[in-house]
Amino acid sequence: MRRLFASLAIVAGVITVATIHTQAKEQTPAVADGPIYKWPGEPPIPKDNPMIPQKIELGKKLFFDPRLSKANKVSCNSCHNVMKAGDDGLPRSPGHAGKLGERNSPTVFNSAYFSVQFWDGRAPSLEEQAKGPLINPLEMGMQDHNVVVDIVSTVPAYVQEFEKVFGPGKVTITKLVQALAAYERTLVTPNSPYDRFVAGDKNALSEAAKRGWSKFGQIGCTACHSGPMFNGPPMPMGTGFFQKFPLIPDPALDKKYKFTADTGRHSVTKNESDRHMWRVPSLRNVAITPPYFHTGTVSKLEDAVQVMAKTQLNQVLKPNDVSELVEFLKSLTGEIPKQTPPELPLGGPINKK
Ligand code: HEC
Ligand code: HEC
Repeated sequence: MRRLFASLAIVAGVITVATIHTQAKEQTPAVADGPIYKWPGEPPIPKDNPMIPQKIELGKKLFFDPRLSKANKVSCNSCHNVMKAGDDGLPRSPGHAGKLGERNSPTVFNSAYFSVQFWDGRAPSLEEQAKGPLINPLEMGMQDHNVVVDIVSTVPAYVQEFEKVFGPGKVTITKLVQALAAYERTLVTPNSPYDRFVAGDKNALSEAAKRGWSKFGQIGCTACHSGPMFNGPPMPMGTGFFQKFPLIPDPALDKKYKFTADTGRHSVTKNESDRHMWRVPSLRNVAITPPYFHTGTVSKLEDAVQVMAKTQLNQVLKPNDVSELVEFLKSLTGEIPKQTPPELPLGGPINKK
């Protein structure tokens, strides 16, 4: 409708700008042709790790507990602050001894829906993912998983809680990451304005967001950011949807933002075809989780949108297109589950360095 109207206006020539403006405005509500993806409801739960309230509580404590790190200073929550947007807002995060990590910390919100974890998709589940940071020298810095288990086992209340949840027996790394993953599966953000709009509330999106919504489809963002999480078509758990970034190399952008120093999925598989392949990230909550990209080098969403248009679709967007796309992306901010820090059980190490 809008396109037809625009060409009519040119042919007629005499229609004043004012008339075009009002008519275009009247027509806007009819523009409802963006991509429709319904919120998926509860995230998938692995059969061998059912959601049990006591397990979720235990996982939450572990998530907040700095005793799981070498110097008792870093918890999962340090880099994935669930009282904020599930991340730390920094380009790269300080971990053990203040050393900076190599990539931007993604939010943990909605990670329960992702078929693979990490920017390069190297972990097939939340359980496997959680094993990484504990022993990453730049994150929690523990020597190995046995040390983590030993330390948790020196906290009597933890030992009791593990027994309540998993039955009699020792604390193990498997149980520990199962508890962490169960907690993370509660960190989901439904009910964004976009979801309410898709569910039938026609007032949930502003006119600008609606125009951004149709542009998101027309420009081709959905070639990669499709599906309920805007991270590609739903994939079986453990597989992952990967795309090349930058697809169309741009030396100026690359110089400015250092996009190609890290080879992405190639660093995991060593396959030449995986060089600069990255998991397509979700765009849910993207407006509240700057800075952007695996590098964390782009701080504004407007700039991230321009980068995408240029490197993935070979387009330079007009400022108005960028701001409408950003309005749409803002509508993907969901209801953040309110979190309060848990009370941690006493015991265990006293600042061992
Ligand atoms: C020092 C900061 C830091 C700490 C501590 C940390 N993480 Fe992360 N986390 C990161 C970074 C950086 C990445 C991305 C790394 C990559 O993709 O290579 C990440 C990735 C993740 C992801 C994947 C999200 C996605 O979209 O792929 C999850 C889930 C996660 N972390 C959970 C945890 C849990 C659970 C803990 C505690 C056991 C933890 N993190 C501790 C920085 C941290
Ligand atoms: C050919 C696939 C492809 C297309 C098309 C595409 N993207 Fe992306 N997008 C990606 C990949 C892959 C990444 C992750 C890049 C990285 O950091 O390594 C990404 C990252 C992003 C990010 C940053 C997310 C974050 O959390 O840091 C935003 C925002 C984004 N895309 C928006 C868009 C918009 C808007 C469009 C359309 C103009 C678009 N994308 C088109 C593949 C694509």
